[in-house]
Amino acid sequence: MTSDASSQIQRAAALLRAGEVVAFPTETVYGLGADALNPAAVAKVFAAKDRPADHPLIVHLPLNADLSMWAREVPPVAEKLALAFWPGPLTLILPRQKRIPEIVTGGQDTVGLRVPDHPLARQLLAAFAGGIAAPSANRFGRISPTTAEHVRLELGDRIAMILDGGPCAVGIESTIVDVSRRTPRILRPGAITSRDIEDVAGVPIGLGPGAGDETEIPRVSGSLPGHYAPRTPLVLVAAAQMRDELNARLAQGLDLAVLGRQAQRVVDGRIHWQRALSDPAGYAHDLYAHLRALDALCVDLIVIEALPEEAAWLAVRDRLSRAACGSGADEEP
Ligand code: TXA
Ligand code: MG
Repeated sequence: MTSDASSQIQRAAALLRAGEVVAFPTETVYGLGADALNPAAVAKVFAAKDRPADHPLIVHLPLNADLSMWAREVPPVAEKLALAFWPGPLTLILPRQKRIPEIVTGGQDTVGLRVPDHPLARQLLAAFAGGIAAPSANRFGRISPTTAEHVRLELGDRIAMILDGGPCAVGIESTIVDVSRRTPRILRPGAITSRDIEDVAGVPIGLGPGAGDETEIPRVSGSLPGHYAPRTPLVLVAAAQMRDELNARLAQGLDLAVLGRQAQRVVDGRIHWQRALSDPAGYAHDLYAHLRALDALCVDLIVIEALPEEAAWLAVRDRLSRAACGSGADEEP
């Protein structure tokens, strides 16, 4: 670590100890962090994001953390998953320890825990030597930030410091697995797939909030239909229909921005065509930067080529369908 990076980390850790809010990079997206055991500091995170109080935050921990300080119970399946995927883009939902303030867990009996894999996040957690409660560093309902510049533009005037760790390697939020119930369930798909989880867990994994064996459905704000949304209206169009759809929209007099995996199909001065990478990891890496860039063009409509139905595309398909659902709305979901 350079002495400059090291002094930035020390400053960020000191701000966290003083109850301030610091944005920091993780391998998934940038987080907006506060001392997880300081309710007044965590309240500042909710205020900066305009986030409703009943949406729980993930507590980020250093690799060597004692999980029993945060979770009442760590079932064997959770231990297996933590061993296999931490540090990494996996959040485990576990029964919470009572000392965790209610504001962190949105009043629930569980807590989301994650050990991030980004050198600056790891150094910050080591220097702070505690849990950092952090949602993604964006206004509620909007697109998660994958560069420090995204955070600066949206929250720069509201927070004490932004640690700049460059673009995030993964680009979409962590896979969330609820291991607090009898059957483990994926609450939010991510780069770590259900297949990866099942291979390690050795048991079948459910998808979605679950029903039947549970009385309480956990609240996952990332599961609201209108999350991750640009302000420009956004539609998903199958590759085979792209040409007809674009011609029809042009005939309506619309200016268009297209995110496609194929080369530009329809050439017209009113179309801005952005080519996406054709593999799921590359697509995820660039997705939010693309959405922000296309939104900034202030066209009438963003048209996105629908993605393959295969499991490897599930996480980005999930983000795109939510973006399509919430786009263009001035109201938060
Ligand atoms: O990759 C990530 O997970 C990023 C980075 C910064 O770590 N964080 C992130 O945080 O995406 P956020 O707050 O934007 O999304 C966390 C999701 C929310 O949808 C929240 O409802 C859910 O995790 N969550 C947190 N605690 C929970 C709990 N106890 N039960 C169910 N869902 C929970
Ligand atoms: Mg978020």
